[in-house]
Amino acid sequence: MKKGLFITFEGADGCGKTTQLRLLYEYLTKKGYEVVITREPGAAGLGEKIREILLNYSGEVSDRCESFLFLADRAQHIDMIVNPNVEAGKIVLCDRHTDSTVAYQGYGRQLPIDRIKMLNEIAVAGRHPDLTFVFDIDVEVSMERVGQNKDRMESAGREFYNRVKHGYLELALQEPQRIKVIDASKSINEIHADVIRFFEDFQKI
Ligand code: TYD
Repeated sequence: MKKGLFITFEGADGCGKTTQLRLLYEYLTKKGYEVVITREPGAAGLGEKIREILLNYSGEVSDRCESFLFLADRAQHIDMIVNPNVEAGKIVLCDRHTDSTVAYQGYGRQLPIDRIKMLNEIAVAGRHPDLTFVFDIDVEVSMERVGQNKDRMESAGREFYNRVKHGYLELALQEPQRIKVIDASKSINEIHADVIRFFEDFQKI
């Protein structure tokens, strides 16, 4: 039986991870792999409804409620999309996953990191990414790229984004085998080359 893979793409808003996800998708499909693209929050089905609330609800949302909504979306996503595809031997490329909750709700909103990690474990029920890319970007650049038209999460401010950036780098220090940090200030092609290099190195293990 072929072995599937679960690869996640992480980083602050505007870091360019979605572009890199698509480039890796093209690279892998050309090589003959079966690849699926998905995202959190808001994969197909119920996830789209949860995403709508998380990004566009205009009333007050408590930080704990926000966390549980991301986690509910994750549980549904793992059960309905990630697991069936990985078990079928496909490569699943996912735009954001557990590290986003640690970086944004843990470091960003300053909820207890250990508890967020524990809740993540419940949401994923044993499925963990095989490889994760963190696209590290300067906070100023990130905010500039997001621009004026901000969604609910993007409106959190500069201090929040400083903490998110720091959170991602802390996570990468804790799990260097899984999490590869990529300098997102380079050109699209240079970043793509870094992604491929890390992917090929990972395949050799
Ligand atoms: P999205 O439009 O998908 O942003 P991006 O294109 O940058 O990925 O919006 C997702 C937003 O939700 C983004 O601001 C990060 C945030 N988020 C969390 O705060 N916690 C989470 O667990 C996840 C998955 C996302």
